[in-house]
Amino acid sequence: MTMKSEKTKFPSYTTMIVLAVLLLVVVLTCVPYLVTIAFAEEQADASPIFAVPPGYKQWQLIAPAEEAAPLDELRAIVGNKTAIDAYQDNKLPFPDGTILVKRAWKRKQSPEFSSARIPGEPTTVQVMVKDSRKYASTGGWGFGRFVNGKPVDEAQHRTCFACHEARVRSRDYVFTRLAP
Ligand code: HEC
Repeated sequence: MTMKSEKTKFPSYTTMIVLAVLLLVVVLTCVPYLVTIAFAEEQADASPIFAVPPGYKQWQLIAPAEEAAPLDELRAIVGNKTAIDAYQDNKLPFPDGTILVKRAWKRKQSPEFSSARIPGEPTTVQVMVKDSRKYASTGGWGFGRFVNGKPVDEAQHRTCFACHEARVRSRDYVFTRLAP
């Protein structure tokens, strides 16, 4: 009995203080890492454009496009009024406020007609918003890619401008021409 009570007293105040200090050091060392992790997770969800622009399904068609296998998609590039006006006036660069949206669907066999292919499941919605100040580092365009309405990760967003810049810099980084 006496032996036991002596033993429970064993962690002296000094030991307790040492342990407390150690714990504090560990916590303080971890905090910056935890903050970094939380921040990285937030960024992973980041898109320069935070939502798909409302009403884009009612926007006017600029041109359809097709993507061969493996993606095998049908696409439609649509624009808001600022975009359509700029296209009709052959205005380059596009003015601030221009929004271009590329809609995409899996290509599907028509159930009624053997040579016809029709839109199947939607795959992605890709957006370009012109704001020459906000997106100055990427040619004035903010890029956003959405799957099921959610933005893809930052790594994917970093690929957008590089490809558009390499191929269509002289056309204000826009591939699509107004369909005749
Ligand atoms: C490897 C090249 C490449 C990459 C990377 C790329 N694009 Fe494009 N993008 C194209 C091509 C080619 C078109 C023309 C239409 C088509 O073929 O679908 C296009 C068209 C577009 C359009 C319609 C306006 C236009 O320029 O014709 C939007 C909006 C768009 N892309 C957004 C994005 C976003 C957002 C990303 C990044 C997540 C991205 N693109 C990455 C090649 C690329």
